[in-house]
Amino acid sequence: MDKQKTYYITTPIYYPSSKLHIGHTYTTVAGDVMARYKRLRGYDVMYLTGTDEHGQKIQRKAEQMGKTPIEFVDEIVAGIKELWSKLDISYDDYIRTTEDRHKKVVQKIFQRFLDQGDIYLGEYEGFYCVDCEAFFTDRQLKDGNCPDCGRPVNKIREKSYFFRMNKYADRLVQYYEEHPEFIEPVSRKNEMIQNFIKPGLEDLCISRSTFSWGIPLPNDLEQVMYVWLDALSNYITAIGYEADEESLRHKFANYWPADVHLIGKDIVRFHSIYWPIFLMALDLPLPKKVFAHGFFLVNGDKMSKSKGNVIDPVSLIDRYGLDAYRYFLLREVPFGQDGVFTPEAFVERVNADLANDLGNLLHRTLTMVEKYFDGVIPTYVEGATPYDAELQALVHQVVTRFENAMENLQFSVALSAVWEVVRAGNKYIENNAPWNLAKDPANHAVLGSVLYSLLEVVRIVSVCIQPFLVKTPLLIWEQIGIQTEEEKKWDSIYQFGALCSGVPIYKQNPIFPRLDGKVEVEAIVQMMKDTAAQHKGIDQAESGAGTKQEVVEVQVQDDFISIDEFMKVELKVGEILEAEPVKGANRLLKLQLDLGTQKRQVVSGIAEFYQPQEIVGTKVIVVTNLKPVKLRGEQSEGMILAAKEGEKLVLSTVSADIPNGTRVK
Ligand code: ME8
Ligand code: MG
Repeated sequence: MDKQKTYYITTPIYYPSSKLHIGHTYTTVAGDVMARYKRLRGYDVMYLTGTDEHGQKIQRKAEQMGKTPIEFVDEIVAGIKELWSKLDISYDDYIRTTEDRHKKVVQKIFQRFLDQGDIYLGEYEGFYCVDCEAFFTDRQLKDGNCPDCGRPVNKIREKSYFFRMNKYADRLVQYYEEHPEFIEPVSRKNEMIQNFIKPGLEDLCISRSTFSWGIPLPNDLEQVMYVWLDALSNYITAIGYEADEESLRHKFANYWPADVHLIGKDIVRFHSIYWPIFLMALDLPLPKKVFAHGFFLVNGDKMSKSKGNVIDPVSLIDRYGLDAYRYFLLREVPFGQDGVFTPEAFVERVNADLANDLGNLLHRTLTMVEKYFDGVIPTYVEGATPYDAELQALVHQVVTRFENAMENLQFSVALSAVWEVVRAGNKYIENNAPWNLAKDPANHAVLGSVLYSLLEVVRIVSVCIQPFLVKTPLLIWEQIGIQTEEEKKWDSIYQFGALCSGVPIYKQNPIFPRLDGKVEVEAIVQMMKDTAAQHKGIDQAESGAGTKQEVVEVQVQDDFISIDEFMKVELKVGEILEAEPVKGANRLLKLQLDLGTQKRQVVSGIAEFYQPQEIVGTKVIVVTNLKPVKLRGEQSEGMILAAKEGEKLVLSTVSADIPNGTRVK
């Protein structure tokens, strides 16, 4: 028998923090989705996560709280594991850098670098950001602060060991060239080359001597390992690299090189420059891919407690359920790009996709099976309706597109493909109008086949979405009367018709109740305020009594028009797909816009300023909730924004990487 194919996927190991926000959960949830997908496809999966527990930042916080560092991290790690269990993260191993299995091996790695002459003793003089645990030179600083997080940096001067990075720079660049898929998205690779490699790779300081909370150097007890050398090594120590036990070394041989290191865009440099170089120095193959996702922003800002705009995953999950949360994270933003969290977008996603599209399809179908077939799954009849062929062709095509998107970590593409099928199911109901078929007993078999096809669509959807929605598939299976394992298998989605007939269904309440938009948006805003206050409390505890904290409260605007009034205007990013003049109106252009989830026609008075062909492909800002009007006989649903001054008019555009349909506010 062939050896089962392996799939080794990692997330970063997290800095211990009691304030993990949705941005942090993005990496782990995405990793979990991929791990679940590969397991469904028959892989032997190793999904690793953990915590990065050493360093100056931790030591400082522990001291401020009057705890030992290990007491401090033990408590936080328990909380993080609880959060991962709340999110149903199916990790196979959890590594803590404070574990012996890790520390021992990192010391061996350091010793090897020393023995090989990759490391030399020198003196470091420069700047250090404790929050990012990163070194910077004078000219890398931004207005004297950390270029990554903007916080103040410390000037340090200490005896340190250095790693000869430059020795490996050419090999690294060559590796990039020969493996174009190594860093994704590609834009990240280009940044690395431009900003760090081209100007000449500087040797990396890899030890510190002014604090003690770290792995001691094997050769110099005055020093501890720089936290990034310690941290990055977790990807190999966890799977038994250089372990004493034979079985563990076997595990390493089985899983390394990793298939993908999933990370956020803030730590690309460490994963795509330093880590590969360390691996080269160890003579190990490099991971097949480093994939950097974007950041979740709130109101255009990086989420951070100091801005009081943190979204706490637990409150969202408690109110809306885990599946709504996981679905939103991975559906809302193309994986790799930055995304925006807004309470409105969250509520709208859940309502539109989960309650309306999926929830309704299931519920309507079950209601009809109860009504017309006494709750027993009817039989399929080949070619029963003229719409069957089209529906099945779509299902077939979507399954392929779904798999391809998943292989490329394009989660939002995968989900939106599945939702095409969900919507096609709802349309199939409208097309066949089962309530009309039911009027004539002669149509009984056709009616049965229509309902069978709908249940089958729901079944195929439920199998596909398993990596993302972890509870919903089980609820669906229960309700549509699935009793065999066969009907849940991945391979069953290639063949339309695997659902067993003659089995009773079990209709229950809708799986996603419709949310009241206004009430829920207010509820989420309140959650954000509560979280900000709670984090302020944690900060004060961690920094000791009396220390001044800069925490900005969530601002409630109350002058001029209120935010509620402004929010009544719905602005979205729309891409101009087509533009043509309106006959008999020389100032008007008729535009077809893509708003992400829908298409719109808008008539706009810009014909004197733009040629139709020059604006096709432009992304503009669209007012989407204006009352539709007819202009010169053409329907116009909305308005596009432009700046106009005298004879000049310029469209308000947004850059091409903002997804269509993104809310603008
Ligand atoms: O960086 N949006 O750990 P960490 C999206 N210990 N992702 C975000 C985010 C946001 N707003 N904020 C954080 C570390 N992340 C190191 C890693 S690996 C050898 C060592 C992501 O706790 C971030 O990009 O600061 C990273 O992927 C993860 O959360 C953990 O970040
Ligand atoms: Mg970070």
